[in-house]
Amino acid sequence: MRIGVLTAGGDCPGLNAVIRAVARSAIDGGDEAVGIMRGFKGLAERDYMPLDMRTVSGILPLGGTILRTSSFEPVREQAIDRLLTAIAEDELDAVVAIGGEHTMWMTGELHSEHGMPLIGVPKTIDNDVVGTDYTFGFDTAVHVVSEAIDRLHTTAQSHDRVMVVEVMGRNTGWIALHGGIAGGADGIVIPEVPTTPEEIAAAITRRHERGKDFSIIVVAEGARVKFPESEEHVIVASEERDEYGYERLGGIGPALAVELERLTGYETRTVTLGHVQRGGTPTAHDRVLATRYGAKAYEMARDGDFGRMAALKGDEIISVPLAEVEGIKTVDLALLDIARRFFS
Ligand code: F6P
Repeated sequence: MRIGVLTAGGDCPGLNAVIRAVARSAIDGGDEAVGIMRGFKGLAERDYMPLDMRTVSGILPLGGTILRTSSFEPVREQAIDRLLTAIAEDELDAVVAIGGEHTMWMTGELHSEHGMPLIGVPKTIDNDVVGTDYTFGFDTAVHVVSEAIDRLHTTAQSHDRVMVVEVMGRNTGWIALHGGIAGGADGIVIPEVPTTPEEIAAAITRRHERGKDFSIIVVAEGARVKFPESEEHVIVASEERDEYGYERLGGIGPALAVELERLTGYETRTVTLGHVQRGGTPTAHDRVLATRYGAKAYEMARDGDFGRMAALKGDEIISVPLAEVEGIKTVDLALLDIARRFFS
């Protein structure tokens, strides 16, 4: 078999580990893997690189993706025929598409509407893909957040300050909640639970009255906070939308910090962790998870298990129909209840 592999959408730590696992599994099974450059764009343009023992050597700990990535949409770009031609003429028996929820949706459509032999592998630091318990990349992002909070603790404590830490996660609070708990945050604000600066300020004041002189508040970029004289809304970094039409989130941290300082009277600073959460080497956990996903994707290709996504259920990697991967997966609020015990 000849199995194509592509990475689409935003990058995240662990992509190279999946690419390596598909390639090494294929070589082991007497098959061939080929890398498709820049997502579906590379398939339309038939831009490939070999995935052999030499090219996948040493990539396990590398962040990003050796295949590069793009947000190319085959339907919008009227590239369906070019994709079908590439698959037929370049003798691709299967294509493994590694991407986020939008790529999984697109992959499902290309399979069901146009019969392409596609398999999905879910990636994202946001952990918001429906159908799988965890995506690789998430653990690394949480690790970055908890390490940043550890560092912020010492400076916040030295100055009796409030520190507001803005983290990524789009419209879910997975990174904020897990990173916040791991770092011992004193407040966690997530999109799943709309709130007001007054509510957060009251919790900080209560905590300080109980003898603490500093606080660390983690806020997810997509948090829904009702500021004075405005409706409850998310804050966007710019009016521009990304290539998939999503809002560009960002800016809630600084806005909230100003309000909290005004309401509490405590000196407040803000830190936006941004793309640091997405860069660099994957954690050991993500390397193992990504390797398992890649191995499963190869087995699915070998078995003709198309139109499906490799998924983690409990501790098992299974396959689920891409048609069922709809919407976004939000956090379990029971975990927020546990986190709240440490807030004041
Ligand atoms: O989906 C991953 C993610 O990092 C989100 O957490 C964030 O909102 C978005 O991508 C940022 O996208 P970009 O890299 O296009 O700015």
